[in-house]
Amino acid sequence: MKPRVAILISGRGSNMEALVKAAQARDYPAEVVLVLSNKSEAMGLEIARKLGIEAIAVPARPFGKDREAHERAIDAQLRARNVQIVCLAGYMRLLTPWLVQRWTGRMLNIHPSLLPNFPGLDTHARAIAAGEAEHGCTVHLVTGGMDEGPVLGQARVPVLPGDTEAALAARVLAQEHRLYPAILAELSRKISLPAS
Ligand code: GAR
Repeated sequence: MKPRVAILISGRGSNMEALVKAAQARDYPAEVVLVLSNKSEAMGLEIARKLGIEAIAVPARPFGKDREAHERAIDAQLRARNVQIVCLAGYMRLLTPWLVQRWTGRMLNIHPSLLPNFPGLDTHARAIAAGEAEHGCTVHLVTGGMDEGPVLGQARVPVLPGDTEAALAARVLAQEHRLYPAILAELSRKISLPAS
């Protein structure tokens, strides 16, 4: 049985789209069963539906400041579909320790930098400003802190003379779309091995 995967997004969803398309190949070792957004207007929800994937919003607003209550609602949707792996793909909300602990070892994130360099926002502009010769993206297991946790894989790109933030972001994004499906496949193969 292939592990059942949910993808959490907040916006455009291009990494989600790359994961869904990769998983639609017969021999891909995981199945995407749900796309979930904290924003009902996220463009990625429509893209997922067009690809034939169930896509729902669980907005935070009804839960006010109670972040854990919001995450309990998300978690209930995941459990209801027997999800085994959660991929954060541009999910732009900090998670509480409650959700992180519930999914330890089974929750991945993609971040647009070579972690531990440049956690947080505006990674491309910061890499250019710092004069980096190389930049890239990282897929890691999610732990308590923001954009940290064991690194599962990285892809590198050069920073070219005269690079704009947009040019560098596009170069990195193309690598994100290759790296994330590859790493999810690796983890899925490990998880579906029979216990010895
Ligand atoms: C991606 O570049 C992803 O690496 C980044 O948000 C973008 C989402 O784009 N994630 C983070 O910055 C997490 N800290 P997408 O919605 O088109 O996949």
